[in-house]
Amino acid sequence: MRKIDATIAQLKRPASEAAANSYSPYSHFPVGVAVVSESGEIYRGCNVENASFGLTQCAERAALASAIAAGVTPGKLTALVIYTPGKTAHTPCGACRQVMHELMSTDSLVVSCCDGKETKAWTRDEYLPDPFVPDSLLK
Ligand code: THU
Repeated sequence: MRKIDATIAQLKRPASEAAANSYSPYSHFPVGVAVVSESGEIYRGCNVENASFGLTQCAERAALASAIAAGVTPGKLTALVIYTPGKTAHTPCGACRQVMHELMSTDSLVVSCCDGKETKAWTRDEYLPDPFVPDSLLK
């Protein structure tokens, strides 16, 4: 099985279950994410909006924070799936790409899926080329 298909097979269901818990009364755009660690543990996140709009938390960063809070070492997250209901696979925002880059493994895969057949997938170099990295702070 292709890595993309295997990743969807493992993580689409938990991502869609997380989307069902989304708190998105303003955008009506639920997002669910599941991320897996090297040891096979799965962590979930959904978007959580607020009447003070700028405080909205994206699903990707919620899932990554959940993994870190549970004790996963940064760099040991191997794959992340984004699920949005409907027929379009959506792309992650720039802020989430920056956080993915710092916390996920160098060979990590990010996949977006939906209720239809469309999927999108990115390697780490694809989702954030020419990144700002921790080493940048030392130069
Ligand atoms: N959202 C995410 O959860 N992830 C993204 O990568 C893009 C946007 C959420 C934030 C907000 O609750 C809604 O989608 C519309 O922007």
